[in-house]
Amino acid sequence: MGVAYPDVLEFAGSDRRKHMASGQADGQEKVPVIQVKDLYKVYRMGDTKVYALNGVDFTIYRGEFCAITGPSGSGKSTLLNMLAGLEHPSRGEIVIAGKHIEKLNEKQLVTFRRERVGFIFQSYNLIGTMNALENVALPLSFRGIGKAARNVKAKQYLKLVGLERLAGNMPNQMSGGQQQRVGIARALVVGPQIIFADEPTGNLDSKTTMEVLRLMQKIVREQNQTLVMVTHDNNLAGYADRIFKIIDGKIVHIEENHRKVQTEDPETAREDGETAVSPEQTDNGGTDGRGETEEKTEGGEGEK
Ligand SMILES: Nc1ncnc2c1ncn2[C@@H]1O[C@H](COP(=O)(O)OP(=O)(O)OP(=O)(O)O)[C@@H](O)[C@H]1O
Ligand SMILES: [Mg+2]
Repeated sequence: MGVAYPDVLEFAGSDRRKHMASGQADGQEKVPVIQVKDLYKVYRMGDTKVYALNGVDFTIYRGEFCAITGPSGSGKSTLLNMLAGLEHPSRGEIVIAGKHIEKLNEKQLVTFRRERVGFIFQSYNLIGTMNALENVALPLSFRGIGKAARNVKAKQYLKLVGLERLAGNMPNQMSGGQQQRVGIARALVVGPQIIFADEPTGNLDSKTTMEVLRLMQKIVREQNQTLVMVTHDNNLAGYADRIFKIIDGKIVHIEENHRKVQTEDPETAREDGETAVSPEQTDNGGTDGRGETEEKTEGGEGEK
């Protein structure tokens, strides 16, 4: 699919464009966006305590794509939900764009999520009684944007994910991959600073998974947003700039992913203004699709 791109960028906030080329480019100042300090989440199950998060520290920078991997039950979703302000930690600090979100009350958290965060779920969570366009436009109505402007912007984002022609389809009239792309458009339409994705391709076939992954990687890179994605799949983690491995509620290491799977050269992409996504672009020379990684730290990354 090849879709127009720069016009959509205009909608995402022009200030973001000044910071192109993202936090991981050499020699460029890294701007911390998410800072986690000594984070714990303890669930009580009768007499026993489950340490879903058992002392977690890290920093994520603007423009980064971070993958959180680990076995089932290791605390990945718990961590993501806490970063997104969906659950309160038992102890510790979460500073997002300079704000301590562990100190916010429910009402403040609702505002925080609306203004800063996009969330992509494995199960899409589209509203079944709304068509694709209405689903994408929904977050804009929460921001008080009028219907005409909402629809224009929602159409731009549907186009971005290659689904403009399905704007009038209801969720049950779309494939899983198409619904997932609607979910991505909905998460991105408000130009959130940070996008959290929990197993965003968990229900998709491998080809659609690669398309969705490349699309997310590209959009986030172009708009210098920050993407935090939970996945148990090492191939998918291969798209990330850094890979966080979590076991039993602890981050056991953080890898710099030097040979991450690329969509295409960012310079070329900006010049030709396309998000062309073709299957050939997944090829990173065989192996497991992840390339070489380098273990950076153990037990969390120190503060800058
Ligand atoms: N609401 C809850 N009450 C009690 N225990 C919970 C609750 N939510 C999660 N847990 C426990 O916390 C631990 C971490 O769960 P979490 O959902 O974060 O795992 P995960 O890494 O996302 O796993 P998966 O890959 O299967 O989605 C698990 O042991 C789980 O049973
Ligand atoms: Mg989970």
